Amino acid sequence: MCLTVEQKLICSIIPPLAFSAHKGQAGRIGIIGGSREYTGAPYYAGISALKTGADLSHIFCTSTAATSIKSYSPELIVHPVLDSFNGHEEISSYLPRFHALVIGPGLGREENTFIVMHKVVEKAKELQMPIVFDADSLIYINSHQELVQGYKKAILTPNIVEFSRLYKAAFSLEPDIFVDLNQQVKDLSQRLGNITIVCKGADDIITDGEIIAVCKEKGSPRRCGGQGDLLSGSMGTMMHWAHMTYNRNESLKISDWGPNILAALGACMLTRRCSYLAFQKCARSMTTQDMIAEIHSAFISLFPIDRLHSQE
Ligand SMILES: *[C@@H]1O[C@H](CO)[C@@H](O)[C@H](O)[C@H]1NC(C)=O
Repeated sequence: MCLTVEQKLICSIIPPLAFSAHKGQAGRIGIIGGSREYTGAPYYAGISALKTGADLSHIFCTSTAATSIKSYSPELIVHPVLDSFNGHEEISSYLPRFHALVIGPGLGREENTFIVMHKVVEKAKELQMPIVFDADSLIYINSHQELVQGYKKAILTPNIVEFSRLYKAAFSLEPDIFVDLNQQVKDLSQRLGNITIVCKGADDIITDGEIIAVCKEKGSPRRCGGQGDLLSGSMGTMMHWAHMTYNRNESLKISDWGPNILAALGACMLTRRCSYLAFQKCARSMTTQDMIAEIHSAFISLFPIDRLHSQE
């Protein structure tokens, strides 16, 4: 099997499966999201983090969402604390055990929820935790850029509409999405202190303010809801792996690509491959659950790490 340079680099951050590993080492991921209206998104993100290879997914949602999310899957640990009086304290007490956070899937736009989220992010930053910001959390960042400004372990994953809003908030100017979008995504990254941005679209544009990586992996023409949650969940797991690898192995920095770029690219490739494979089977009736069922096949076809190791 012939792997591209990108695939090989991503393989280098994936921890090999080992019988000696103990529960949690491959990742404990916290998902912050899930509200009265939206219960599917945090489920998709949480299960995708697990199926990408994390050991545990914890979901922190409102009390109105918890029962639904629990009933979708016994594999997720669900905490109904997002709308409780001292929600941020409850969540913060868990943070030291986590390796990465995914914030935003189904979060909703309640002011109280945003306040809790803000405090949790402050705490997570103190702990230098990798954080993926998606969906409704990006709405909040439009008016509170200081929350992510210069935080090198953040990745924002806007779609083109969310990107335009972020850009406008940062530059008081609409982006021209038909002219050199790559450069405008990079401009936004630099304005926010070189945090990593993944602008999702026909191609996914990934930049950390220095380099730009474009993911052109073949996907599908289906645009069913929930694909972004598969992306953010799998990116949470890959963020943990990438930062763990870089923390352990300084020499990996020889590659121009930092851990965020590798994690983002890995998750984008994986999500697109899932979409491609699910579309072969389901075509127009493909939904995100069909994509989740393809995570394993997509993963081993893109990143055949366990086969690489068994050959050694
Ligand atoms: C962001 O990256 C650019 C390009 O390398 C660099 O010129 C700039 O100083 C960096 N800004 C910050 C805040 O690190």
